[in-house]
Amino acid sequence: MDHQNSTVIVNLKHYRQSSSASAERFLEKFIGSQGMSEARIIFALNPIDIRLASSFPEMEFFSQHVDPVEYGAHTGQFSPQSLLDLGITGSLLNHSERRISHETVERTVSMAKRSGLEIALCCESVEEAQSFAPLKPAFIAYEPPELIGGNVSVTTAKPSVISDVVRVCSEYGVPVLVGAGVKTGSDYRTSLRLGASGILVASGIVLAENPAKSLSSLIENQ
Ligand code: G3P
Repeated sequence: MDHQNSTVIVNLKHYRQSSSASAERFLEKFIGSQGMSEARIIFALNPIDIRLASSFPEMEFFSQHVDPVEYGAHTGQFSPQSLLDLGITGSLLNHSERRISHETVERTVSMAKRSGLEIALCCESVEEAQSFAPLKPAFIAYEPPELIGGNVSVTTAKPSVISDVVRVCSEYGVPVLVGAGVKTGSDYRTSLRLGASGILVASGIVLAENPAKSLSSLIENQ
Protein backbone atom coordinates (compact mmCIF):
# COMPACT_ATOMS: atom_id res chain seq x y z
CA MET A 1 0.00 0.00 0.00
CA ASP A 2 1.37 3.40 -0.95
CA HIS A 3 1.63 5.63 2.08
CA GLN A 4 3.05 8.48 0.06
CA ASN A 5 1.03 11.65 0.60
CA SER A 6 -0.93 10.05 3.43
CA THR A 7 -1.29 11.83 6.74
CA VAL A 8 -1.30 10.49 10.29
CA ILE A 9 -2.50 12.81 13.06
CA VAL A 10 -1.69 11.65 16.57
CA ASN A 11 -4.14 13.47 18.84
CA LEU A 12 -2.58 13.87 22.28
CA LYS A 13 -5.95 14.98 23.75
CA HIS A 14 -5.69 15.77 27.48
CA TYR A 15 -4.45 12.41 28.66
CA ARG A 16 -2.24 12.62 31.73
CA GLN A 17 0.43 10.68 29.80
CA SER A 18 0.60 13.16 26.91
CA SER A 19 -0.32 16.64 28.13
CA SER A 20 0.67 19.31 30.62
CA ALA A 21 3.54 18.17 32.87
CA SER A 22 4.03 14.96 30.83
CA ALA A 23 3.80 16.42 27.33
CA GLU A 24 7.48 17.09 26.77
CA ARG A 25 8.57 13.65 28.02
CA PHE A 26 5.88 12.08 25.83
CA LEU A 27 7.00 13.92 22.70
CA GLU A 28 10.64 12.99 23.28
CA LYS A 29 9.69 9.37 22.61
CA PHE A 30 8.92 10.27 18.99
CA ILE A 31 12.11 12.09 18.06
CA GLY A 32 13.10 10.65 14.69
CA SER A 33 9.62 9.40 13.87
CA GLN A 34 9.26 11.83 10.93
CA GLY A 35 11.58 9.68 8.85
CA MET A 36 9.90 6.39 9.71
CA SER A 37 7.59 6.29 6.70
CA GLU A 38 6.42 8.23 3.69
CA ALA A 39 3.47 9.47 5.72
CA ARG A 40 3.18 13.01 7.01
CA ILE A 41 3.07 12.63 10.80
CA ILE A 42 1.45 15.41 12.82
CA PHE A 43 1.05 15.61 16.59
CA ALA A 44 -2.09 17.50 17.71
CA LEU A 45 -1.19 19.24 20.94
CA ASN A 46 -3.55 20.30 23.68
CA PRO A 47 -3.61 24.13 23.60
CA ILE A 48 -1.97 24.17 27.02
CA ASP A 49 1.13 22.63 25.43
CA ILE A 50 1.38 24.62 22.21
CA ARG A 51 4.62 26.37 23.16
CA LEU A 52 6.42 23.01 23.24
CA ALA A 53 6.47 23.01 19.45
CA SER A 54 9.59 25.15 19.42
CA SER A 55 11.49 22.46 21.37
CA PHE A 56 10.86 19.85 18.65
CA PRO A 57 11.74 21.60 15.39
CA GLU A 58 11.91 18.36 13.42
CA MET A 59 8.31 17.45 14.28
CA GLU A 60 5.08 18.88 12.88
CA PHE A 61 2.30 20.07 15.17
CA PHE A 62 -1.38 20.96 14.98
CA SER A 63 -3.49 22.42 17.76
CA GLN A 64 -6.58 20.54 18.94
CA HIS A 65 -8.70 23.68 18.59
CA VAL A 66 -8.57 27.28 17.40
CA ASP A 67 -10.95 30.22 17.73
CA PRO A 68 -12.28 32.64 15.06
CA VAL A 69 -10.50 35.66 16.51
CA GLU A 70 -7.61 37.96 15.68
CA TYR A 71 -5.06 39.11 18.24
CA GLY A 72 -6.87 41.41 20.67
CA ALA A 73 -9.21 41.49 23.63
CA HIS A 74 -10.21 37.81 23.73
CA THR A 75 -9.96 36.07 27.07
CA GLY A 76 -9.27 32.36 26.90
CA GLN A 77 -9.37 32.29 23.11
CA PHE A 78 -6.55 32.20 20.59
CA SER A 79 -6.24 33.02 16.93
CA PRO A 80 -5.06 31.12 13.87
CA GLN A 81 -2.23 33.66 13.55
CA SER A 82 -1.06 33.04 17.11
CA LEU A 83 -0.62 29.34 16.30
CA LEU A 84 1.33 30.12 13.13
CA ASP A 85 3.52 32.50 15.12
CA LEU A 86 4.46 29.60 17.39
CA GLY A 87 5.31 27.26 14.52
CA ILE A 88 2.01 25.34 14.51
CA THR A 89 0.87 24.53 10.97
CA GLY A 90 -2.77 23.59 11.54
CA SER A 91 -5.56 22.70 13.91
CA LEU A 92 -8.30 20.20 14.48
CA LEU A 93 -11.69 21.88 14.60
CA ASN A 94 -15.10 20.72 15.82
CA HIS A 95 -13.72 17.49 17.31
CA SER A 96 -16.46 15.39 18.94
CA GLU A 97 -14.95 16.32 22.29
CA ARG A 98 -14.88 20.04 21.38
CA ARG A 99 -17.96 20.68 19.25
CA ILE A 100 -18.82 24.19 18.01
CA SER A 101 -21.73 25.64 16.03
CA HIS A 102 -21.86 25.48 12.24
CA GLU A 103 -21.62 29.24 12.11
CA THR A 104 -18.45 29.19 14.23
CA VAL A 105 -17.03 26.44 12.00
CA GLU A 106 -17.59 28.65 8.94
CA ARG A 107 -16.01 31.71 10.52
CA THR A 108 -13.02 29.76 11.84
CA VAL A 109 -12.30 27.93 8.59
CA SER A 110 -12.45 31.12 6.61
CA MET A 111 -10.22 33.01 9.05
CA ALA A 112 -7.73 30.12 9.21
CA LYS A 113 -7.59 29.99 5.42
CA ARG A 114 -6.84 33.70 5.22
CA SER A 115 -4.01 33.20 7.73
CA GLY A 116 -2.63 30.06 6.06
CA LEU A 117 -3.42 27.69 8.93
CA GLU A 118 -4.56 24.21 7.83
CA ILE A 119 -7.81 22.98 9.35
CA ALA A 120 -8.73 19.32 9.87
CA LEU A 121 -12.46 19.80 10.25
CA CYS A 122 -14.09 16.96 12.16
CA CYS A 123 -17.50 15.54 11.32
CA GLU A 124 -19.61 12.75 12.75
CA SER A 125 -21.66 11.73 9.71
CA VAL A 126 -21.94 11.86 5.91
CA GLU A 127 -24.54 14.63 6.26
CA GLU A 128 -22.15 16.73 8.27
CA ALA A 129 -19.32 16.04 5.81
CA GLN A 130 -21.65 17.18 3.04
CA SER A 131 -22.38 20.43 4.81
CA PHE A 132 -18.68 21.08 5.54
CA ALA A 133 -17.10 20.08 2.22
CA PRO A 134 -18.00 23.36 0.40
CA LEU A 135 -15.90 25.21 3.00
CA LYS A 136 -12.90 23.39 1.52
CA PRO A 137 -10.80 22.94 4.67
CA ALA A 138 -7.39 21.25 4.31
CA PHE A 139 -8.98 17.98 5.55
CA ILE A 140 -12.33 16.64 6.63
CA ALA A 141 -11.88 14.15 9.47
CA TYR A 142 -14.63 11.59 9.91
CA GLU A 143 -14.89 10.17 13.43
CA PRO A 144 -18.02 8.34 14.64
CA PRO A 145 -18.22 9.47 18.28
CA GLU A 146 -19.42 6.13 19.65
CA LEU A 147 -16.20 4.43 18.48
CA ILE A 148 -13.76 7.01 19.85
CA GLY A 149 -11.48 5.53 22.52
CA GLY A 150 -12.74 1.99 21.93
CA ASN A 151 -11.33 -1.16 20.40
CA VAL A 152 -13.47 -1.35 17.28
CA SER A 153 -11.95 0.59 14.41
CA VAL A 154 -13.98 2.94 12.22
CA THR A 155 -12.45 1.09 9.27
CA THR A 156 -14.05 -2.18 10.41
CA ALA A 157 -17.37 -0.80 11.66
CA LYS A 158 -18.09 1.90 9.06
CA PRO A 159 -16.39 1.12 5.73
CA SER A 160 -19.37 2.19 3.65
CA VAL A 161 -19.71 5.48 5.55
CA ILE A 162 -16.00 6.15 4.94
CA SER A 163 -16.53 5.58 1.21
CA ASP A 164 -19.55 7.90 1.25
CA VAL A 165 -17.65 10.63 3.10
CA VAL A 166 -14.77 10.28 0.62
CA ARG A 167 -17.18 10.54 -2.31
CA VAL A 168 -18.92 13.63 -0.94
CA CYS A 169 -15.63 15.37 -0.12
CA SER A 170 -13.93 14.46 -3.39
CA GLU A 171 -16.51 16.58 -5.22
CA TYR A 172 -14.84 19.56 -3.55
CA GLY A 173 -11.30 18.17 -3.70
CA VAL A 174 -11.11 17.83 0.08
CA PRO A 175 -8.99 14.91 1.39
CA VAL A 176 -10.55 12.79 4.13
CA LEU A 177 -8.97 11.47 7.31
CA VAL A 178 -10.69 8.87 9.46
CA GLY A 179 -10.38 8.15 13.16
CA ALA A 180 -11.90 6.30 16.12
CA GLY A 181 -10.61 2.99 17.43
CA VAL A 182 -7.71 2.90 14.95
CA LYS A 183 -4.95 0.72 16.36
CA THR A 184 -3.16 -1.32 13.69
CA GLY A 185 -1.38 -1.11 10.37
CA SER A 186 -4.25 -3.04 8.91
CA ASP A 187 -6.73 -0.31 10.03
CA TYR A 188 -4.46 2.24 8.39
CA ARG A 189 -4.19 0.32 5.13
CA THR A 190 -7.96 -0.21 5.05
CA SER A 191 -8.54 3.52 5.44
CA LEU A 192 -6.32 4.20 2.41
CA ARG A 193 -7.96 1.44 0.39
CA LEU A 194 -11.36 3.03 1.09
CA GLY A 195 -10.09 6.28 -0.39
CA ALA A 196 -9.14 8.16 2.75
CA SER A 197 -5.91 10.15 2.82
CA GLY A 198 -4.93 9.07 6.31
CA ILE A 199 -5.96 8.58 9.89
CA LEU A 200 -6.34 10.20 13.29
CA VAL A 201 -5.32 8.15 16.29
CA ALA A 202 -5.19 8.85 20.02
CA SER A 203 -5.61 6.07 22.60
CA GLY A 204 -3.94 3.44 20.38
CA ILE A 205 -0.71 5.43 20.69
CA VAL A 206 -0.99 7.52 23.85
CA LEU A 207 -2.18 4.69 26.11
CA ALA A 208 0.07 2.01 24.58
CA GLU A 209 2.82 0.49 26.69
CA ASN A 210 5.35 1.67 24.11
CA PRO A 211 3.83 4.65 22.23
CA ALA A 212 6.71 5.11 19.76
CA LYS A 213 6.70 1.42 18.86
CA SER A 214 2.92 1.49 18.42
CA LEU A 215 3.24 4.42 16.03
CA SER A 216 5.97 2.75 14.01
CA SER A 217 4.07 -0.53 13.72
CA LEU A 218 0.97 1.44 12.69
CA ILE A 219 2.66 3.32 9.88
CA GLU A 220 5.49 1.19 8.61
CA ASN A 221 5.05 -0.08 5.07
CA GLN A 222 4.06 -3.71 5.31
O1 G3P B 1 -8.96 12.59 17.13
C1 G3P B 1 -8.72 11.22 17.20
C2 G3P B 1 -9.52 10.54 18.23
O2 G3P B 1 -10.76 11.10 18.52
C3 G3P B 1 -9.58 9.07 18.04
O3 G3P B 1 -9.47 8.57 19.32
O4 G3P B 1 -8.72 6.99 20.99
O5 G3P B 1 -10.30 6.27 19.22
O6 G3P B 1 -7.91 6.74 18.64
P1 G3P B 1 -9.08 7.05 19.53
